[in-house]
Amino acid sequence: MNDVANIRTPSVVEFIEADLKNTGFAMSSDRLTGSLLRTLASSKPGRSFLELGTGAGMSTAWLLDGMDAHSTLVTVENDLTVHEMAKRHLGTDGRVEFLLVDGEEFIRSNPNRRFDFIFADTWPGKFYCLDEVLGMLNPGGIYVIDELSPVDTWPTEHLNKVTRLVRYLETQDDLCITKLSWATGLIIATKIK
Ligand SMILES: C[S@@+](CC[C@H](N)C(=O)[O-])C[C@H]1O[C@@H](n2cnc3c(N)ncnc32)[C@H](O)[C@@H]1O
Repeated sequence: MNDVANIRTPSVVEFIEADLKNTGFAMSSDRLTGSLLRTLASSKPGRSFLELGTGAGMSTAWLLDGMDAHSTLVTVENDLTVHEMAKRHLGTDGRVEFLLVDGEEFIRSNPNRRFDFIFADTWPGKFYCLDEVLGMLNPGGIYVIDELSPVDTWPTEHLNKVTRLVRYLETQDDLCITKLSWATGLIIATKIK
């Protein structure tokens, strides 16, 4: 099996990649992660999605490609440049709301909001405000994080942070988790209580 053969990349992903060339922004999700997000998104018709860390809209594009016409997505970013880039490519899609706000501020000001799918691709909701974000997940909802497989360039402090995060998720009784040493290293968790 070849993981990337016939992956059917949405054309907007290629436009975003082209736009990102020479910008120095290198934090976009890879295509494997994108395809996984799309598959998971397609399992939740008519549901509400949250993405923390829009970046330039790469993972947003894959999520939207999997979501049905009745699903909605809120995506949160605190950097104006990439927020604008994502909006330029995806802003005409009425299912998605682009928020330019700090992720922690969004989480703390929406304690009663609930989502069926959360992709936490930035610091808040992953390395801090984790309980708060997991609390925003409906029963049966899916929580996804990536970039968990260690790379040589990580400082020890970051390695320790990731190790603590993985251990914490492993020990939560209300989550059913799978760890994938694939792509950049992912955890998929479902809320079971
Ligand atoms: C890993 S990148 C997101 C990539 C994007 N999800 C994708 O796959 O293309 C993380 C993003 O989070 C943003 N960010 C960093 N700190 C943040 C914060 N406190 N609140 C909201 N966004 C933040 C960064 O500007 C960056 O665009």
